[in-house]
Amino acid sequence: MAIPVTSIILIAVVVTLSTKLYLVESSSDNNHVFSPCADASVERSDGFTFGIAFAARTAFFFNNSVQLSPCDRRLSLSSSNSQLSIFRPKVDEISLLTVNSSSFSPDSYGGYMVAFAGRKYAARSIPAFVANSTYIVTSFTLVLEFQKGRLQNLYWKRDGCSSCSGKSNFVCLNNQDCAIRTSSCKNRGGNVDCSLGIQLAFSGTDKHESVFNSWYEVKNLRQYSLFGLYKNLKDSLTSQYNSFF
Ligand SMILES: *[C@@H]1O[C@H](CO)[C@@H](O)[C@H](O)[C@H]1NC(C)=O
Ligand SMILES: *[C@@H]1O[C@H](CO)[C@@H](O)[C@H](O)[C@H]1NC(C)=O
Ligand SMILES: *[C@@H]1O[C@H](CO)[C@@H](O)[C@H](O)[C@H]1NC(C)=O
Repeated sequence: MAIPVTSIILIAVVVTLSTKLYLVESSSDNNHVFSPCADASVERSDGFTFGIAFAARTAFFFNNSVQLSPCDRRLSLSSSNSQLSIFRPKVDEISLLTVNSSSFSPDSYGGYMVAFAGRKYAARSIPAFVANSTYIVTSFTLVLEFQKGRLQNLYWKRDGCSSCSGKSNFVCLNNQDCAIRTSSCKNRGGNVDCSLGIQLAFSGTDKHESVFNSWYEVKNLRQYSLFGLYKNLKDSLTSQYNSFF
């Protein structure tokens, strides 16, 4: 496989919310593309593989100017300090991805992340700030935008800190990210589980031009409110968010 990143984050979990809303007639996955660096064309009920690379912001730019996909060898992410996490959520299901921080500190890998998939039709998000030695952002919403089943765009949906305004545990960074002090994290002597939670939503159309609905549902909800819905994510993530909000 042509993934130019040294190591894979071991503890990456996909939690899927199955409610009536997102049930599909067929639960079969007919997408046989499992590499995040290959092109897939999907229909509802398929799984879709994409990656998230963690590195310094500059590591995602070629010649300090052009942002390339982490799959592009010109970036040589493998020789820089980076980590890769691979996910395979079901298309058009609201999913919460978690990256467990008990053995992974994003700030020690440059502190930024880029979501990506595809080769010829390569799509990548802009680098999102995750953590430095002072702050960590633990909640994200990622939108995967498809056109006729092909990924066109990946973008981070921000809510301008409305989900944390007035909460003393949080600091609003750059008017867009709700951050926690890294000193509050469990692996730094605090009591907060600083695992990353990435809320996924799908927009656009599948290869039969059926419209994806999950984005429509997510955008009407506040960023953190979905955490409480994931019954399988029963431990610290859920309970700590419940106690904050
Ligand atoms: C890198 O950037 C410099 C300055 O912007 C430019 O002159 C040079 O041609 C670029 N190199 C490549 C390989 O694109
Ligand atoms: C992360 O892993 C640790 C150790 O295995 C576990 O105690 C903790 O509950 C996990 N956190 C999440 C959010 O899954
Ligand atoms: C961490 O990031 C925040 C927000 O971008 C910035 O204000 C702060 O100076 C950074 N701290 C360090 C130690 O880099």
